[in-house]
Amino acid sequence: MIDEIKEKALKEGVPIIKDEGLAFLLNFIKEHHCKDILELGTAVGYSSMEMAKLDKDIHIDTIEKNKDMYDQAIVNIAENKLDKQITVHFMAIEDFHTDKMYDLIFVDAAKAQYQKYMEMFLPNLKDDGYMIFDNMIFHSLVFQVDTIASKNLRNLVKKIVKFRENVHNDKRFDIMMNDDVGDGILVLTRRKSET
Ligand SMILES: C[S@@+](CC[C@H](N)C(=O)[O-])C[C@H]1O[C@@H](n2cnc3c(N)ncnc32)[C@H](O)[C@@H]1O
Repeated sequence: MIDEIKEKALKEGVPIIKDEGLAFLLNFIKEHHCKDILELGTAVGYSSMEMAKLDKDIHIDTIEKNKDMYDQAIVNIAENKLDKQITVHFMAIEDFHTDKMYDLIFVDAAKAQYQKYMEMFLPNLKDDGYMIFDNMIFHSLVFQVDTIASKNLRNLVKKIVKFRENVHNDKRFDIMMNDDVGDGILVLTRRKSET
């Protein structure tokens, strides 16, 4: 059933997480026993359903601003009987405010806003929680910015490159940059204070 949703999404050009990135994400959740998850960017609910299927105790808040995507996600999640575990919020990420604390925040929307989203949702990350960002190599374009003809695309990719540099130099975090996984997966966690 979820496989059919994946095939349909791919056929219709809906940008869903790549197999390799998903495998990494699911393993990570299992290994680190993440239960409370916030996902930025639902699309049709594919990645949130895959995460929820791992364990009945997992709960996911996921945010989507596109009405068509949201409607499809609601149907898909209900048909797969995962609606008790997944709450889809129909709104812009920028408007989502909560006091809830999460074990994992999975960022998979608006690549140009990654720095902003990181700062915005850091207060919602448990002390030992993780943030994971997809598309950190953006189809390998981050390695060839100067060859990109389209100005808009070049500006977007430059923002991802800048975000990569920023997290590398940010003393608040320990990071794991997995450029060879899917479309590039960044894992970030709070650096434990040195003793
Ligand atoms: C890459 S897709 C998400 C894919 C999904 N995580 C998966 O792998 O199945 C990104 C989604 O984020 C949504 N999006 C982009 N910017 C957003 C924003 N500012 N607020 C809410 N949703 C946004 C888009 O409409 C799109 O459906």
